[in-house]
Amino acid sequence: MNRQHVETTMRAVVQHRYGGPEVLALETVPAPVPKADEILVAVHAADVASGDVRVMRGEPKLLRAFFGLRRPRVPTVGRDIAGVVVAIGAGVTRFSVGDRVCGESSQGGWAELVALPERFAVRVPDHVGFADAATLPVSAGTALQGLRLAGIDPVRRAGADTAEGGEARPRLLVIGASGGVGGFAVQLAALAGCEVVGVGSADKAEHVLALGASAALDRRTAWASAEPEGSYDAVFDLAGAQALGELARLVRRGGTVVLSAGGDDGWLGPMPRLLAATVRNPFTPVALRPLAAARDVADLEALVGLVADGRIRSMIDRVVPLAEAASAARDFLAGRVRGKLVLEAR
Ligand SMILES: NC(=O)c1ccc[n+]([C@@H]2O[C@H](COP(=O)([O-])OP(=O)(O)OC[C@H]3O[C@@H](n4cnc5c(N)ncnc54)[C@H](OP(=O)(O)O)[C@@H]3O)[C@@H](O)[C@H]2O)c1
Repeated sequence: MNRQHVETTMRAVVQHRYGGPEVLALETVPAPVPKADEILVAVHAADVASGDVRVMRGEPKLLRAFFGLRRPRVPTVGRDIAGVVVAIGAGVTRFSVGDRVCGESSQGGWAELVALPERFAVRVPDHVGFADAATLPVSAGTALQGLRLAGIDPVRRAGADTAEGGEARPRLLVIGASGGVGGFAVQLAALAGCEVVGVGSADKAEHVLALGASAALDRRTAWASAEPEGSYDAVFDLAGAQALGELARLVRRGGTVVLSAGGDDGWLGPMPRLLAATVRNPFTPVALRPLAAARDVADLEALVGLVADGRIRSMIDRVVPLAEAASAARDFLAGRVRGKLVLEAR
């Protein structure tokens, strides 16, 4: 293994049981040792995302079948990180010590060190900040994959040299536009040439408009029934608060509703809703498409490139020290974040 001098212990945010932010604690734990195909990353920034707080709470309870029935099998928390490679496994070929990288870890990203399989890591240019890069893997990746399900490909469009003059701009509604995934969806869709309308809290409307939306609807009003039938080519639903029929009504015949959330079922979470969408799909004049975003390094490379070129930005609300992870999780759950909240590990 090629390595700089690396400590054998590190500080990491851990949870020894499921629950609210009070279960999170900053502890000193053994530092990970990279396997042959892994790089060891000194974490500079770690993202706070909905998946992290779901695992913290162990909800929906179905999650516990994968993460540990009575308590989390992996006590370290967090997934998306950015930092500097400080050691590499014997089989690593693409990275060297000193490289700036980002990626999605499954072993706890809210930590000073993370061992990451090299196939999940992407190089980060010098002029892209670690905090910016840390927000990209899950949040921007989910936004990109959701848009593709709706037939919108911002990456392909961003590479095009000429505008497709004369074509009507597709209209997209993003429900949850003020959040992490939604904020990237608004920007990426605008980049792809769509006219985007965003739904979120009224006090975050300016934020949504600044991302490129042409209008921001207040989620606490009866906005859905006020929108004319068939107003949109596609809806990207990140909140799950509207009935499927209500969402389908908003989309023109042949359009698409992408579903990535919803359902307060404490055991199954969004599964019943997503299953209902799959069953109803053949009988509905619009496509109802459940989204299951997957880790995709080519997508992440493209997203880092878009940030590096200044075509999208990572909408960081604030960066807080790792030691404040519990209060960050509390703020996230309470919706006190515009865009993204990031933890600083060093
Ligand atoms: N399917 C997948 O593969 C996948 C992957 C990643 C995430 N997700 C899901 O995507 C969702 C969004 O994730 P995120 O990280 O972006 O969360 P987030 O940052 O907390 O954003 C949530 C967004 O939803 C909005 N919202 C909340 N309740 C609403 C309602 N009743 N009506 C309309 N909008 C509402 C919030 O608005 P305000 O904050 O303005 O109130 C905010 O814009 C989560 O449910 C997450 O589980 C799915």
